[in-house]
Amino acid sequence: MTKKSKIKYILGIETSCDDTAIGIINTQKQIKSNIKVNQNNFHKHFGGIVPEIAARAHLEYIDHVLNESLEKANLTLSKIDLFCATGGPGLIGGLIVGSTFCKALAWSHKKPFIAVNHLAGHALSARLTFKIDFPFLLLLVSGGHTQLIAVVDIDRYIRISTTLDDTAGETFDKSAKILNLGFPGGPLIEKLSLKGDENAFKLPKPMYKSKNPNFSFSGLKTSFSKLAKSIDVKKEKNNLSASLQKCISDCLIDRTKYAIKEFKKIINYKRVKLVAAGGVASNNKIRLELKKLSEVENVDFFAPPLELCTDNGPMIAWAGYENFLVNNRSMFDFKARPRWPLDPIKSIINPTNRIIGKKGVKG
Ligand code: KG4
Ligand code: ZN
Repeated sequence: MTKKSKIKYILGIETSCDDTAIGIINTQKQIKSNIKVNQNNFHKHFGGIVPEIAARAHLEYIDHVLNESLEKANLTLSKIDLFCATGGPGLIGGLIVGSTFCKALAWSHKKPFIAVNHLAGHALSARLTFKIDFPFLLLLVSGGHTQLIAVVDIDRYIRISTTLDDTAGETFDKSAKILNLGFPGGPLIEKLSLKGDENAFKLPKPMYKSKNPNFSFSGLKTSFSKLAKSIDVKKEKNNLSASLQKCISDCLIDRTKYAIKEFKKIINYKRVKLVAAGGVASNNKIRLELKKLSEVENVDFFAPPLELCTDNGPMIAWAGYENFLVNNRSMFDFKARPRWPLDPIKSIINPTNRIIGKKGVKG
């Protein structure tokens, strides 16, 4: 078994959704490479990700992405000391491709393999960039998740809120589809918003100021769709984008404000650190509003650089390394997990422990 102190270079593979991403970092937190191939061209006709197409594309791309990542880092595989891959949650086909590929690399080079929880990857990404001690409050906003989580320790997470239906990322993506913009919707809506008036249209803000800590976005999406049908979308797309972006941002800020109070109660910690992560956290309007909120609430705010917000390899390498430092064991017996909540022993403060829908809340 590789000794912790002998580790210098760590490789991370991310294939849980539609990006084939591989990054290499060193233990001094330097990112030696961060290579990503997206599959937007394959999925854009469908306005969302088609799992089977995604899995096949990962299979097609993964060895090219690995070669490019090694080349950029100026390293060979024999120099990698720890191999990490996303083990879940996500689309099972992609998870199997990435984790099996990674296990084979680790096994053939007699090095440890770590399966990383994708959400832990996002959660810990800020620690790759900044010096942030536990505990901190995490706003995780991506295509798959919209959650507020108390990150107590490397593997102790308490979920404060989650979405009861759609995520913020899905709301951007589905609304972009309504506007015929393409996929992924978030960056396209952000771009158009710059030219629009965010007060042009009034949209509903589900759960706004609610005592239930959770998010909900399906009503907003339905209202947006109805509104779009009633006006000239081509003419109004900038105003529609800006109004939608403002509405999503207001909902995120309102729930985060609520969670800061909950976090203080749970953790009994005076100076709160707020971390934003996930693809939606690369939105400049949302980052700005979170910064303003943190000033009003007197909390410290951290958001990783844009390229570490959306799915990427370095965040998986870093989370795998943090895991190995604490647990000191390889995970060759790990099987990919499409569902893998960060908080398996659900916290008692979370009213969503109740089963909602067929499979319960998104985990
Ligand atoms: O974290 P991520 O890359 O993948 C998941 O784990 O889901 O997040 C992807 C999501 C997509 O829904 C995409 O539309 C959204 O993040 N996104 C954005 C922006 N960039 C990506 N949403 C709003 N503004 C952006 N600039
Ligand atoms: Zn993600």
